[in-house]
Amino acid sequence: MGPQLRRILVINGKGGCGKTTVATNLAVAYAKAGHGVALVDNDPQESSAYWADQRPADLPPVHLLATHRRGNMYQTSVFQNRLPPGVDRVIIDGHSNARDRDLELLLKQTDVVLLPLQPSSIDIQAASRFITDMLTHRAFRAAPRPVGVIANRVQPNTETHAKLSHFLACLEVPTVATFRDSPVYMEAAEQGKGVVDMLESRAARKETAAWWELLRWIDEQPKTASDRGSQSLRNRPLAAGRRVPSEQTLRA
Ligand SMILES: Nc1ncnc2c1ncn2[C@@H]1O[C@H](COP(=O)(O)OP(=O)(O)O)[C@@H](O)[C@H]1O
Ligand SMILES: [Mg+2]
Repeated sequence: MGPQLRRILVINGKGGCGKTTVATNLAVAYAKAGHGVALVDNDPQESSAYWADQRPADLPPVHLLATHRRGNMYQTSVFQNRLPPGVDRVIIDGHSNARDRDLELLLKQTDVVLLPLQPSSIDIQAASRFITDMLTHRAFRAAPRPVGVIANRVQPNTETHAKLSHFLACLEVPTVATFRDSPVYMEAAEQGKGVVDMLESRAARKETAAWWELLRWIDEQPKTASDRGSQSLRNRPLAAGRRVPSEQTLRA
């Protein structure tokens, strides 16, 4: 089977929960696994773009598409037309204020949604609201796709972790990964790396299994209903002007 295009949106309604950390580490893990990877920086803070600027040239490449660098928020709508050839994994570092039309544009170009959240009461409350808004958004209801929560910055066996576990168990969406609170993530971010690039570090090695499991979960998800009948996506160069398949569903 040829490579199948998968577009992964990393989003939450709150800054600082780990969107860029998840997006960049995921991009690196896919690149290291041999995939052609594009990282779409959709956040005006441009942290992913900054990260990509730091990435050493001798590590597996991650192609950056910065949707804000040309000063137009809505360039999100056409990122798919700008994918370099050979890209089969697109990771979108979404911005925290994506609502309504912005969120719709993002969802239309997404196969799997990942929602990082941190185990604090404020973050949990914000995330729960965001999840409800997203699941009830018309673009989402028109073409539901898999959503996974990522528990980030977890300190195992603490009271906040217990609180988080309780909240996660009550959600309608599954928790698909848990990452520890570790300084190795900031270290990686500053060097344009992901933890799977840093096998010389014991702290990084402790985290790698969780990243490979997340990749496996993503790749096991069925393609979004809107892509059915779009087998031609496979093996085909990503030509400019190709329709985003889910638009048909949304118009129907
Ligand atoms: N698992 C983690 N352990 C330690 N620090 C983390 C972890 N995840 C994120 N961070 C740090 O928290 C800060 C915010 O994370 P970031 O990914 O930039 O969030 P967002 O993109 O949602 O605003 C960054 O300094 C990042 O290095
Ligand atoms: Mg960010």
